[in-house]
Amino acid sequence: MRSPVVTLSSPASQQPDWPDPARVEAIVAELAGLPPLVFAGECDQLKNRLAAVSRGEAFVLQGGDCAETFAGANADAVRAKLQTILQMAVVLTYGGSVPVVKIGRLAGQFAKPRSRPTEIRDGVELPAYRGDAINGFDFTPQARTHDPDRMLRAYHCAAVTLNLCRAFTTGGYADLHQVHAWNKDFVRNSPSGERYERLAGEIDRALSFMRACGADAEELRSVEFYSSHEALLLPYEQALTRIDSRTGLPYDVSAHFLWVGERTRALDGAHVEFAASIRNPVGVKIGPDATPDGVRALIRRLSPDGEPGRLSLITRLGAGQIRTLLPPLIKAVQEEDIPVAWICDPMHGNTFEAPSGHKTRRLEDVLDEVQGFFEVHRSAGTHPGGVHIEFTGDNVTECVGGSHEVNAADLHQRYETACDPRLNRGQALDLAFTVADYYRSLPTTG
Ligand code: PEP
Ligand code: CO
Repeated sequence: MRSPVVTLSSPASQQPDWPDPARVEAIVAELAGLPPLVFAGECDQLKNRLAAVSRGEAFVLQGGDCAETFAGANADAVRAKLQTILQMAVVLTYGGSVPVVKIGRLAGQFAKPRSRPTEIRDGVELPAYRGDAINGFDFTPQARTHDPDRMLRAYHCAAVTLNLCRAFTTGGYADLHQVHAWNKDFVRNSPSGERYERLAGEIDRALSFMRACGADAEELRSVEFYSSHEALLLPYEQALTRIDSRTGLPYDVSAHFLWVGERTRALDGAHVEFAASIRNPVGVKIGPDATPDGVRALIRRLSPDGEPGRLSLITRLGAGQIRTLLPPLIKAVQEEDIPVAWICDPMHGNTFEAPSGHKTRRLEDVLDEVQGFFEVHRSAGTHPGGVHIEFTGDNVTECVGGSHEVNAADLHQRYETACDPRLNRGQALDLAFTVADYYRSLPTTG
């Protein structure tokens, strides 16, 4: 068997417990022979875009499901998510007057870290759901058994999803002249949909003006779109790590951007070792337990050369804590002189259980964390570089609040997530409008 490009010697947490190791080896060997999902050159291009973010010249919009499912790898679901990203990006680009780097939590987000290894329902204990790449969501012993064949399905679902994304974003659908067409169905008549429609009208007039002037730029006809997921399931990521023929360096070709999660960012753990060995742009989640020294050590490990665009720090500190916890972390990073893109994940520090038992988040808290992120960066003189969010294109009822309000009592109506609660399209647009307002209020640097 071909040996992996990147071998890991550190202990790996949050890995599956597969019953048949020989089957795992066979699947990994098969994955290692399959074509790359992305090209190293595309990863480098994203690195350049993220370098602009760390210089304060662009803003990241990263988002999608908490956990993608195999069933969700279909044209309708992927289009709805892209529509949401495109609408949000337009609001941010126009409202914030800033180039937006669009990165989906998409085409590979199939493995989940869990706080507890098992789940108990009515006295029955089974392995926790760890994402479709590992086991099934149904609460049965058969579904919850860890199955290595699922890695192969994850690869194929990622390929299908990425193919749809590439076609939608370059085949005319993402043409800015379609700005009204993205505002379809349920969202159109919601308060944020109406606000969007007014903005789209302004863009239309600007486009007609440009056309009348004889300027009809090719850049308006398609968008650059990148894929990302948490690099959690190491055998899968290792099998998809290849040597780039141009540079002779290893790239994980399962996605353009990979991040290390909050539960697996131990400095001496295998996930950080893996992220340190690949040349993709990478991120690391920074939760409330992170110390300034810990973050300093992480950035030295993950970006020893200080390559611009290489490293993003995705803070998820919680609305109540960001204003006190973020300033010392920023100071520590500034002292290292390693450029990073600061991205705010306002979702994972703000989860709570509703009286109905649903895991949920308040849009109010999400917006408050983003506001804290902007405030802290403004006073530190650093660039608030982007947002990382969990959303879906559908009209789900998983997070409470929003201009078309979802109440705690509504949560049961369309609670469809396989993991954490996601913003619906209207709530995602509400967030985009608020972020654009914050961005506009920043002192101009140019
Ligand atoms: C996630 O992004 O879904 C996640 C598990 O986040 P974190 O690692 O920050 O808890
Ligand atoms: Co999540």
